[in-house]
Amino acid sequence: MKSATRQIGLSAPWIDERDEELVLEVMRSGRLSLGPAGPRFESLLADAVGARYSAAVSSGTAGLHLCMRLAGVGPGDEVITSPYSFVASANCALYEGATPVFADIDPRTLNLDPAAVEAAVTERTKAIVAVDIFGYPCELDELRGICDRHGLVLVEDACEALGAAYKGRPIGSHGHLAVFAFYPNKQLTTGEGGAVATGSEEELRQLASLRNQGRADSGGWLEHARFGYNYRLDDLSAALGVGQLEKLDQILAGRTEVAARYTDLLDGVDGVEPPVADDADHVRSWFVYVVTLADGVDREHVIDELERRGVATARYLPSIHLQPYMRERFGFRAGMCPVSESASAHTLALPFHARLPLDDQEYVVESLRAVLA
Ligand SMILES: Cc1ncc(COP(=O)(O)O)c(C=O)c1O
Repeated sequence: MKSATRQIGLSAPWIDERDEELVLEVMRSGRLSLGPAGPRFESLLADAVGARYSAAVSSGTAGLHLCMRLAGVGPGDEVITSPYSFVASANCALYEGATPVFADIDPRTLNLDPAAVEAAVTERTKAIVAVDIFGYPCELDELRGICDRHGLVLVEDACEALGAAYKGRPIGSHGHLAVFAFYPNKQLTTGEGGAVATGSEEELRQLASLRNQGRADSGGWLEHARFGYNYRLDDLSAALGVGQLEKLDQILAGRTEVAARYTDLLDGVDGVEPPVADDADHVRSWFVYVVTLADGVDREHVIDELERRGVATARYLPSIHLQPYMRERFGFRAGMCPVSESASAHTLALPFHARLPLDDQEYVVESLRAVLA
């Protein structure tokens, strides 16, 4: 097979000299952990998302796990979450010995359907992990209403949604626990890393202790008030995060522009649906550009043909309940969440990042048009 001369990758971080300078400064300072870069990053991040507090952690997964501890989730409990997500939003319940319960999604937004969530509540339910999939805000008010009625804790998996807004206010500013993630394909990267936003000083105190091996505000380095973890974010990563936050508006604007161009270019290409558009209550932060292929389109053929032309794609996202370890452990089977399963079979992520050149986008769309014709 002749390989394509053009290669367009799925994602790319935006790293510049300012980021390098900030990381170098930390290296030269000799304080690679527990130095000043961490609190600086946390304070800028809290400002950026309109949160009272933020606690930086070593990954989004670590942040979700700590939220399960804060929610008091334990063995025998159930945690309702979305099957159409990255595995970490369900694994966090497993880490505490709880059972993930998958409620189906809305076919339009691909986020949790509140009616399905309500129907899944039992006397064992302890928390809901609501995901803002692909950066599109979930139905926070309805989900919070369910939590209030049944005495549940709401945890928002906003790992893909830094910069999104719900009902006119940024995701992260709504008071409940919201977790962000900073892997290199995210809007903002720290290499690996994450953060939990909260409006509660008590939750912040617990997060700060749990991520630091259970150490408390008072007491020595070798005194551990509670059972904790090493989920700290190091200062090199935090410094990169500071550089990223300084240009966050630019990064988000670039991503919005690239997404709008895709939507324009795809207009009139048969067999492809663009992602759901924003409305007054939901403003997406663009994490990935995921299209839905029409029934009858052979997705594997599309993926292979695009790859042959040098265009990377990804099957975002498989349904979590059908992952091998979930089937094996809980006996989950196809048919449990038909909307999610159908989305999983039809969706495809195209190359996407803030500085994707127009001619690369045109090439991606022309390749897609040719394959579908
Ligand atoms: C929806 C969602 N939840 C959780 C995570 C986990 O984040 P991390 O990879 O930083 O652990 C991700 C990251 O890809 C994600 O997309």
